[in-house]
Formats: sequence, structure tokens, C-alpha cells
Amino acid sequence: MEGMKNLFPARMEDVPEEFRLPEFVDQREYLVNGELRVWRGDFQDVISPIGMASQEGSRIGRYPLLTEHEALEALEAARNAYDNGRGEWPTCGVEERIRRIGNFAARMKERRDEVVRLLMWEIGKTLKDARKEFDRTIDYIVATIDALKNLDRVSSRFVIEEGVFGQIRRAPLGVVLCMGPFNYPLNETFTTLIPALIMGNTVIFKPPKLGVLLHKPLLELFCEAFPPGVVNTVYGDGAKVIGPLMASGQVDVLAFIGSSRVADILKKQHPKPHRLRSVLGLEAKNPAIILPDADLEATVKECVLGALSYNGQRCTALKIIFVHKQIAEAFVEKFSQAVNALKPGMPWDEGCAITPLPEPGKTTWLGELIADAEKHGARVVNNGGGEAEGTIMRPAVLFPVTEQMQLYRREQFGPVVPVAVFEDIEEPLRYVVESDYGQQLSIFGRDPGQLAKLIDPLTNQVCRVNINSQCQRGPDSFPFTGRKDSAEGTLSVSDALRVFTIRTLVAAKSTEENRDIISRIVRQRESTFLSTDFIL
Ligand code: G3H
Repeated sequence: MEGMKNLFPARMEDVPEEFRLPEFVDQREYLVNGELRVWRGDFQDVISPIGMASQEGSRIGRYPLLTEHEALEALEAARNAYDNGRGEWPTCGVEERIRRIGNFAARMKERRDEVVRLLMWEIGKTLKDARKEFDRTIDYIVATIDALKNLDRVSSRFVIEEGVFGQIRRAPLGVVLCMGPFNYPLNETFTTLIPALIMGNTVIFKPPKLGVLLHKPLLELFCEAFPPGVVNTVYGDGAKVIGPLMASGQVDVLAFIGSSRVADILKKQHPKPHRLRSVLGLEAKNPAIILPDADLEATVKECVLGALSYNGQRCTALKIIFVHKQIAEAFVEKFSQAVNALKPGMPWDEGCAITPLPEPGKTTWLGELIADAEKHGARVVNNGGGEAEGTIMRPAVLFPVTEQMQLYRREQFGPVVPVAVFEDIEEPLRYVVESDYGQQLSIFGRDPGQLAKLIDPLTNQVCRVNINSQCQRGPDSFPFTGRKDSAEGTLSVSDALRVFTIRTLVAAKSTEENRDIISRIVRQRESTFLSTDFIL
């Protein structure tokens, strides 16, 4: 236990210089209508999970606690910028939007170190993963631009059917409210914000409760890159700032990554739900199913990655492992060893994999889940598993986990790995069917016939079946979605362009006069919609 305490820096000077926070991050600005306005009301303190001298956390900054009034100002700015589809942004054309987003990405790269440092301090992400999150976000923007060029090329032509000709394109929907989660506060916010913007919508975005300050270096870039009102930010208590936005009925798309409970509240607040398009990434409890013939070494490696990358705080994490009785003992032994080899430390520590958890009270709550499992007959099987010091916890492997335990069904979203044993494959299959979630699962085994028998029914239960591989969102060109309480709508680089648009067409009966009119418009480049120009 003493060792865990020593992991925390005693003073800022103990942190390697390049990762220190040079000063208190005093975010007083919020972005509305192209201006960074200074807030003079109440603020929310930002407590880093990295507490000095092992306090529960340290106060590293603050951000505005806006009210309904400022939220509605942001909405008005976004609506005016959209101007019922007549604003500068929705009408400027794909090429111009691509140019502006490309410039934004180029400027964003210059702020990498600042954003990465704040990712470490605000949410405890390791240096390696924080850099990965930043770089993946830039790659996503570049891929989005390419996907849009492709889409535009396909749409730059006329279709002629049954004596009617037309041009079909994807047009924006209006005002998009983007809300990302704390575990990927940059990446998952931008995987909705960027496609929404590039397709001509205007945006209000609210960072998650944890993971706010890391957006601060980007605010001025939004200001420079886009016309006023195209990007606006709101901060504060969701009930106070998001409730009124939804209740206004003037949000056209809700892009939300978080819990289904909150998603339901938000959707119900909209007075005309049929007008609201939603794209939701919600909770999951992805199981791993380990068959008797699985390659033990490779399976252990993938299960460790799947269950404990970023301390298990991924919606895609493996959150319960079902292992066949024949290999349960061997698996649990090797898995426990591999888990214990994960090094706890501060995000910048070389090779560290287990870091402080940002959610207040999280280690205590996980401790309660462990105690509940123990009460019902499971054991922590890895040495020191579940030991906690303030915000950090050594991962705990619980075995054997059964239906009576909360860990069997509840999403732990942390460094606790429940392992259950099965004899009959119907047991994990029943688990999947009865689960409230339906995102992904992993099957480990080597017999193609046996695997095929599982793949077919399971692809009708979840949206991605991973073979001998952990669950994950990437590559970002793959569809990312879920069934039941796990998602609504599909995200991928190309799907996101569809999510934030609706197909719209201009059509005419193919009379000579109509052909002449349309040809003239196209030849003289009088419309951005009716156009056969190619973007190369
Ligand atoms: O939290 C959910 C993320 O979308 C997971 O993404 O599988 O790439 O870590 P990932």
C-alpha cells in the first residue's frame, strides 16, 4: 500500500518538467457567435485525479458554470448562422467547408502538447494513449475530408429514370448538439462535431463534465476557422444548460455519447421528438467467450488489452469474461499474472498502464462491487488486486463470478475484471440474449466449425463479433454501433457524413425546356447544389 502512495508526486516539481502544468488553468471564456466571451458568474473547479502527496485530487483549473440564458444565446447564434439553410456556412459549398476544416486541423496540430498534457491531468490518460487520442482525431479529420470528396464526386452527376432526371445530394439538417464522453473527450466529441460541421450544419458543443479544459487551447482556433455562430460552446450543469436547449425544440440533431439514462431524458425534453435525429453511443458490457481450444497465450494478451486498456474505462472494453471449465484454471492463472504485470503509475511514467481514475469516488464504488462479488462466493485471484490508494486501484480479477453478483450485469467501467465459468455454450449465449446491451463481443477459439456456429446467431445479437481479438471501435472506417441500450445510429468516417445529413434532390421531367434550364444553371455555375464540378 505504501508503494501505491509513492506513485503520486508530492509536489509539482516532482513531475517531469515537460508534463507539469505551468499554471492554474483559468478558463473564463466561452465561445458564442464567433466571440470568446468572458464569464463573470460562478465557476466549476476542475479537480485532477492526480493529487499531490496522494490527496484525493488537486485543483488544477476552473471553467464557467453557464446558465440557461447563455445556453439559449448559443442556440440563437447557431440558428442564426444556419439561417434556415440560407446562412453562409450551409450554402458555401463543400469545397470551402473542406478548406476551412483542413485549416482548422493544421492549426490544431500546433496545440498537440497542450491538449495531451491536459488529457493526462484531467482524466488520467497515459501519455501514450493521450497522444494516440490526439493523433487519431487528426487522422479522423483527414479521413473525413477524403470521404466527403468521394461522396461529392459520386453526387456530381445526374440520374435519369423513367423520364425524370435529377441530382441527389446530402444536405445538412440544421443545429447539432454534440456531447462527448469523459474517456475520449477529444476524439469522441470530434467524431461527431467534425462530420456535422463539414456537412454544413452549425454546432453547439458541450464538453463532458470531466475533460473540459483540454478544449481550451482549441477555442480560439474555432473562432478563426469558422464564420460566427457556426461553432458555439456551453459549459455547466446539464440540467440547467442542456434541458432548455432540448425543450426549445430547436435542436435538430442530438449527437451524444454517454449513458442511455441521460439520452432518454434529453430526447424526451424535445417537444417534437419526430423532428429530432439522434446519434447515440451508450453503455455496453461486452463479453469475451473463451472456448476450450483457444490459444491461451494470445487469448490472455487480448483479454488484458480488452479489459484493462485505460483502466477498463472504454465503452468497448471487455467487461466480463466467460471461460470454458476445461481451461478456466489455466486461463485465470495466466491472466492474473499478465494483469499483475501492468504497471501502475502517473500518466507520464514510462511504461505505466494503470493510472488514477477521474470519476469522484470511483475506487470506493469499485471496492463495493468487489465486496459484493466476494460476499456471493467470488475471490480476488490476483495478488494485491483491488488495493486502492486515493484515485488509483490495482486491477482486480474476480473469479468465479455468477449471476447473483452485481458485477455480472453492471457496467463497471474501471479496473475490475469479472471471470465466469461455463460448461455449456448455451450459458454465455443466454447471457448475451438477456443482456440490456448489444455492442460487441469477442470469441476465442480455433475450430472454424465451432466458431461459425456461434458467429451466425451472435451477429444477430451484437453489432461486431471479434474473433480472437479484443473488442474495439477502430479502424474508424468500420461501422461503430450497437443494439438495445448500447447505441442509436451508426458512426464511421463515412456513416457520420450520412448521419448529419438528409438526401435531397432536384428533379424535373425530362422535357426539352427543363433540360435547357438545368443545363444552363450547371454550365454557368449558378448553383452549388446543381453542379457537376468535381473536387479532386
Ligand atoms: O469508449 C468507447 C470508445 O469508442 C472506444 O474506442 O475501442 O477505440 O478504445 P476504442
